[in-house]
Amino acid sequence: MPELTDDALVAAVRTALDAVLDPEIRRPITELGMVRSVEVTAGTAVVGIDLTTPGCPLKETLTRDVTGAAVGVPGVSDARVVMGVMSPEQRGALRTLLRGTDAEPTIPFAQPGSLTKVFAIASGKGGVGKSSVTANLAVAMAADGLRVGIVDADIYGFSIPRMLGVTRQPTRVDDMLLPPIEHGVKVVSIGMFVPPGQPVVWRGPMLHRALQQFLADVFWGDLDVLLLDLPPGTGDIAISVAQLLPGSQIVVVTTPQLAAAEVAERAGSVAVQTRQHVVGVVENMAWLEQPDGSRLHLFGEGGGERVATSLTKLTGTDVPVLGQIPLDVRLREAGDAGTPVVLTDPDSPAAQALVEVARSLTARKRGLAGMALGLTPTGR
Ligand SMILES: Nc1ncnc2c1ncn2[C@@H]1O[C@H](COP(=O)(O)OP(=O)(O)OP(=O)(O)O)[C@@H](O)[C@H]1O
Ligand SMILES: [Mg+2]
Repeated sequence: MPELTDDALVAAVRTALDAVLDPEIRRPITELGMVRSVEVTAGTAVVGIDLTTPGCPLKETLTRDVTGAAVGVPGVSDARVVMGVMSPEQRGALRTLLRGTDAEPTIPFAQPGSLTKVFAIASGKGGVGKSSVTANLAVAMAADGLRVGIVDADIYGFSIPRMLGVTRQPTRVDDMLLPPIEHGVKVVSIGMFVPPGQPVVWRGPMLHRALQQFLADVFWGDLDVLLLDLPPGTGDIAISVAQLLPGSQIVVVTTPQLAAAEVAERAGSVAVQTRQHVVGVVENMAWLEQPDGSRLHLFGEGGGERVATSLTKLTGTDVPVLGQIPLDVRLREAGDAGTPVVLTDPDSPAAQALVEVARSLTARKRGLAGMALGLTPTGR
């Protein structure tokens, strides 16, 4: 093969860079105007990259991906990346590319024709496992190949960042926020905007405004599913969610305990007033498996079923129990460590139950194998 000229190599490197995605925006860096320059001399490529912000936490990932793409070009043996920062004009252009020219950001999930399924995870009582369920459902869906985002709407008790191991702040591009991505899930939490250790004292209208911002100012890209982790109870946030996302559906989390179930029914019944659809009930902490395989029903039995039956009556639609999640120390430990149990112990009964719930919510398209086709063979 004849040696390529340096000009041809530059063109080949540029083409190779089409395959490098910005880790936050998940679009080719060439399309986003991030490739400032490409030079090739004596087999060494020097690529100039403009970051969205100087402190971009994903510098290393980008450097690795760009270098990898460049040295993958035959004739390029070495590559170097020179990082710069976008000018205000470049940032403005990027914002327009991603968001259009609308002056006032709108909530993409509330637009007619939005294809994103929105689920709000609610409970009556606190501490029943809403956040754990939300975090696990999200990563299970992402592992199934869906594009997933979470809004931690629990202003007072935000816990999603810890459960997903998110330590980064969103990146700001003009008035637009790029959410951090962890385990394949885009995550935004009020916890990211509050200095550590400070209590949040916000009233209803401020909560409403904060939620609106989460939904509108964040660049979510195209999502298949958005999950909202709600605070416990039937407070202002639940009503704001109904107003801002009229198409959102409710998943009620309860424990088997009667007292928890009664309060969960109340949380679910708010949906009747806000005209939201209740998709189903998740019974968490359902039992503890003993070393001999028997089940210890620590919190009693029947709470999930009871909530499902009463919400079915109340709403006039079928509200099923989507799953029962057993108590499992590994679930708690995995949450504390920032990698949900569906990833750390996928074979555990708790993880499997969570994956089942995730799939029933997204109603994954399945292959035809093993499915009834509804066809009856005709006699010959
Ligand atoms: N099935 C389970 N097995 C073991 N531990 C669990 C289980 N579900 C939740 N936990 C643990 O119980 C605690 C409360 O769970 P979590 O924070 O998810 O509840 P929550 O409903 O979001 O609480 P809050 O009302 O405070 O927001 C956490 O420490 C979590 O790790
Ligand atoms: Mg919580």
